[in-house]
Amino acid sequence: MITPEPRAAWIAGRAEQGESTLAVTHPYDGSEVATVAVPGAEQIERAVAAAVAVAPRFRRSPAHLRADALEHVSRGLAARAEELAEVITAENGKPLKWSETEVRRAVSVFRIAAEEARRFTGEIQRLDADTSGEDRMAVTRRVSRGPVLGIAPFNFPLNLVAHKVAPALAVGAPIIVKPAPRTPLAALILGEVLAETDLPEGAFSVLPLGNSETAALVADPRLPVVSFTGSGPVGWSLADAAPRKHVVLELGGNAAAVVLADWPDIEGAAERIATFGNYQAGQSCIAVQRVIVERAVADEFVPALVEAVQALRTGDPYDTQVEVGPVVDEAAAERIVAWIDEAVAAGARVLTGGGRDGATVEPTVLADVPPDAKAWAEEIFGPVLAVSVVDGVDEAFASVNASAYGLQAGVFTRDVHLAFHASAELEVGGVIIGDVPSYRADQLAYGGVKGSGVGREGVPAAMQDLTEERVTVFTGIEL
Ligand code: SIN
Repeated sequence: MITPEPRAAWIAGRAEQGESTLAVTHPYDGSEVATVAVPGAEQIERAVAAAVAVAPRFRRSPAHLRADALEHVSRGLAARAEELAEVITAENGKPLKWSETEVRRAVSVFRIAAEEARRFTGEIQRLDADTSGEDRMAVTRRVSRGPVLGIAPFNFPLNLVAHKVAPALAVGAPIIVKPAPRTPLAALILGEVLAETDLPEGAFSVLPLGNSETAALVADPRLPVVSFTGSGPVGWSLADAAPRKHVVLELGGNAAAVVLADWPDIEGAAERIATFGNYQAGQSCIAVQRVIVERAVADEFVPALVEAVQALRTGDPYDTQVEVGPVVDEAAAERIVAWIDEAVAAGARVLTGGGRDGATVEPTVLADVPPDAKAWAEEIFGPVLAVSVVDGVDEAFASVNASAYGLQAGVFTRDVHLAFHASAELEVGGVIIGDVPSYRADQLAYGGVKGSGVGREGVPAAMQDLTEERVTVFTGIEL
């Protein structure tokens, strides 16, 4: 993975060395896996100026050309899938099988964007519903809002970058993407594949930057759209710093899985929850954190959950038997264990786990966590499940909603009425019936309410979000 030269940044579509470098380390053992080029001020300025210059032409470019480029990227990522999965595991520490899943998803994201680019048309509307609109017709087109600054997190180094880049290119918006400093490698390889296309100069840049340079880009009025995925405090501070911009925030959550008494396979629910509380060591915004179970099935469910969590193997993420690798760094592991200890000091019981070895946190199940303890109330972003037993559906749904966040929730029920009730009642962006909240299809609208953010990703939804309506009224028309 270590290359003779630092991995190049992508400045307006061209590979360039930077003014300084950044070392990328493997979370499992701290070993250095690569260095990358960090662009300087002049290079950043060139990336922005090129994005601005190409924007008017790019948004008018033929859809088939954009679609062809996106299809090429989809195929190019598929062709490099093995390399990309290894790179993701190296920089992020997630077990190889989850890296492979991530690459497959990114291949789909670009394929979906290619398909959507071809059918992203406007609307025609008759206006004669009122007398003032007789003989009139309107065409509503969606027009790119302009160059996008995409800021991506470390937990999906490729696919959450893909979710910034693909919809922007699909609507003809130039994109400057800033990967997370801990995990820039997959995004830089994506830059290599993008550079094989006929996209015009300035249509994309991949800039591994630090926080102060990023803050300057957030403030730059030439980039009217900021699309951020990451932590709540950072996201909301970006929105405050750019009040006149179109800001999309995909923030965190403390996702709940609700197990209702009618669910026929309690052991199966326990296994799904164990897996998706711990996949990627809990570092997904929709990893299960809160587990809310109806009392009637708690005696069966809780031991099954503990058993399923204890069966998860931790260790070297390159070992294909390993389910739970390290979190992103030792400081994150320390913080997670401190939150566990805080919950225990406030009366929680540890049913399994609770400790750490370096950056690897033991898969943990807690019970009786007070609702104001961070392990329940905040996003723990670690392999920790907090179980609460409730008396009935109303208490379960009230408990889901008693959160500052609202990204997704999972409800294990077979009862169609309860399913619709959940869909109406739960204050979240997505409800998954019969499964964990961690399910996401990349073509579906994805995003949260309350502290979990504003706006939606998921390729078609993001294409809407990155564009605005332009209405043209035709008069004297024969209808
Ligand atoms: C996230 O962590 O918000 C992304 C989850 C996913 O794409 O599966």
